[in-house]
Amino acid sequence: MKETVATTPSAGLVWVPKAAEIAREAGARLREFFAQGVETEYKGDVDVVTIADRTVEKLIRERLGEVFPEHGIYGEEGTRERLEREFRWYIDPLDGTTNFAHGFPQFCVSMGLERRVAGITENEDGTLVAAVIFDPMRGDLFTAERGKGAQLNGKPIKVSLTAQLAESLIATGFPSRKRHESPNIHFYHEFTLRSHGVRRAGSAALDLAYVAAGRLEAFWEFNLNPWDTAAGILLVEEAGGRVSDFAGNPFRLDSREVLASNGLIHEELVGLFKDMFAGRGLSPIPTAQEFAAQRMERAKG
Ligand code: IPD
Ligand code: CA
Ligand code: CA
Repeated sequence: MKETVATTPSAGLVWVPKAAEIAREAGARLREFFAQGVETEYKGDVDVVTIADRTVEKLIRERLGEVFPEHGIYGEEGTRERLEREFRWYIDPLDGTTNFAHGFPQFCVSMGLERRVAGITENEDGTLVAAVIFDPMRGDLFTAERGKGAQLNGKPIKVSLTAQLAESLIATGFPSRKRHESPNIHFYHEFTLRSHGVRRAGSAALDLAYVAAGRLEAFWEFNLNPWDTAAGILLVEEAGGRVSDFAGNPFRLDSREVLASNGLIHEELVGLFKDMFAGRGLSPIPTAQEFAAQRMERAKG
């Protein structure tokens, strides 16, 4: 019998169906902007923004206001609405703006829903309860609700079963603000030598969704924001993976450190972070000058 492929999220989900509809509409709008090309503006040094980011955040804000009028919204492009409410959406209307602005087709819409019980302070995290990440170029819709698993285009997804870093494909990202203060290139180097490779594809939300879908074994990044991570974290957890800070402590939305994996290689990764922060286990890398000297020697025969 021919298998039917579900294209809509499974029944029984409370928030995902409506949020997925909004993400699809937002994604369609991003595709239109992408096709016509947009001008790049600068928020910081190389921190770019486009009319697409702002237009799509406005669209998501309006649609969420219509379908979940009680919910709060916290968006990257400045939306701060009803933050005292029990439910709060973290919205990144366009994760991967630099890619988008250059015509590199790796970006997405990310929407994560947090439930905040009465009495919780602004410094405390609530519970992530729903996640929607939509890649409009591939038509990949990643969804999850707490306790109900994670799905890709309506079909259940699980993290990978690879149990060793040496056999893993992993990913990271680099900040677009205060770039000279980031130590991440050292981690990039070390993890590259110890794995099948490290991808730097430019959309943290999709990187997390890929860990959930078993396309990557792990992802780490310094200094992300809740709108980058909220949806992806729940996806990874619901797909059977693990998320923490670099020391293996529980992840917090404002912790500025995210380490997500299939769970099986998590301790190995935490151990490597510990060693590297202590200055242990670093593999030497030739400087450009040393390499040039060797090259000269080789040319001499
Ligand atoms: C960025 C992307 C990128 C990550 C940056 C983020 P934006 O988000 O997720 O992969 O490396 O740290 O700021 O600015 O494109 O929404
Ligand atoms: Ca982002
Ligand atoms: Ca963004």
